[in-house]
Amino acid sequence: MDRRQALRQSALAVAAFVFSRDAFARDAERIVKTYSGSPAGFIKLSSNENPHGPSPAARKAMMDAVNGSNRYPWEVTTQLREKIASLYGLTKEHVVMGAGSSELLGLVSVMAALQKGNAVAPDPTFRLWMPAARKFGLPIKLVPLTSGKETDLQQMKDNMDAHTKMVYICNPANPTGTIIPAAELESFIKETASRCIVLLDEAYTEFSDEPSMAKWVNDYPNLVVAKTFSKIYGMAGARAGFALAHPQTIKQLNELQPWSNAGTSAVSLAGALASLDDKEFVSFCKKENRKARDIFYTALEKAGMPYIPSHTSFVYFDSTPFNKDVTQLLESQQIIGARSFEAGSKWLRLSVGTVDEMKKVASVLNG
Ligand SMILES: Cc1ncc(COP(=O)(O)O)c(C=O)c1O
Repeated sequence: MDRRQALRQSALAVAAFVFSRDAFARDAERIVKTYSGSPAGFIKLSSNENPHGPSPAARKAMMDAVNGSNRYPWEVTTQLREKIASLYGLTKEHVVMGAGSSELLGLVSVMAALQKGNAVAPDPTFRLWMPAARKFGLPIKLVPLTSGKETDLQQMKDNMDAHTKMVYICNPANPTGTIIPAAELESFIKETASRCIVLLDEAYTEFSDEPSMAKWVNDYPNLVVAKTFSKIYGMAGARAGFALAHPQTIKQLNELQPWSNAGTSAVSLAGALASLDDKEFVSFCKKENRKARDIFYTALEKAGMPYIPSHTSFVYFDSTPFNKDVTQLLESQQIIGARSFEAGSKWLRLSVGTVDEMKKVASVLNG
């Protein structure tokens, strides 16, 4: 890359970040102004929350755990790490717990920042960890998606240099819902994990049919796989997430936590533990998400709006051909959440709610 290209790319990166932060603040302000006083009765499709959760087993476990919450959560956090490890054929030393996976995305990027270099990430992507990482001195090179809005692995590799300490990939991707097939992702990991940390965000893998990459953590100590109880398990407010990595790497992450593995409440950890056994609930959520997503696809097709087939609980679509402002139209019917992630673009992301909620969305768009 020549100097002009590099300057253009960093200007774009700054503009994209300022845009997304400002857009988010504007959205929050407008929503509060418009709807304060009447929160009940609106359909919230903004944050890819699971409309069905938590699972019945998790609810019961959390209620039972309230009585024991005078004690620190050592026992339950250890049980949970053991349980998670057994699901991935690993040991508890491969597992770190966090207050949501965002805490762990933050810690991994701090770990990278401490090595004094840069990071590479796709654009747009899940950005929550980026502002803190930059404050810790980690400049982030943002790599545009392909013309089909897929993660551009070749460009990501081309943007890595001798100072790159971390590469971030969200698979399936937020906000686009695309997925990198396992074989391609495996060869990317093979090529890059010898050079820097590969932070793989698998928040939505359970909605897809592709496997987790966690099986590679013993082979690649630089690979960190971040996962969450917020999505398929429907526990976003409980703030429970985990990362899987080589024990050496987990140890370094533990050193960055004030109390390793104990940042989440005993109540939430008990819920998370119970939710792992509620397989029926997980398959129910996956099926319902597909049904509701199909209803939304049909509505988009009828409305003439192209979309990207999604492997997640949200859909990215192009509202350009529609004759009204989709966000405003939905909000006028108390449906919140259609928003843009690319400056100057009319591509929007909307979370998939229940079947009934998506029928309401369809009736508003097609009505
Ligand atoms: C891609 C991605 N990663 C991580 C998270 C954070 O999840 P958590 O609630 O576990 O912090 C989200 C939440 O929306 C997400 O979309």
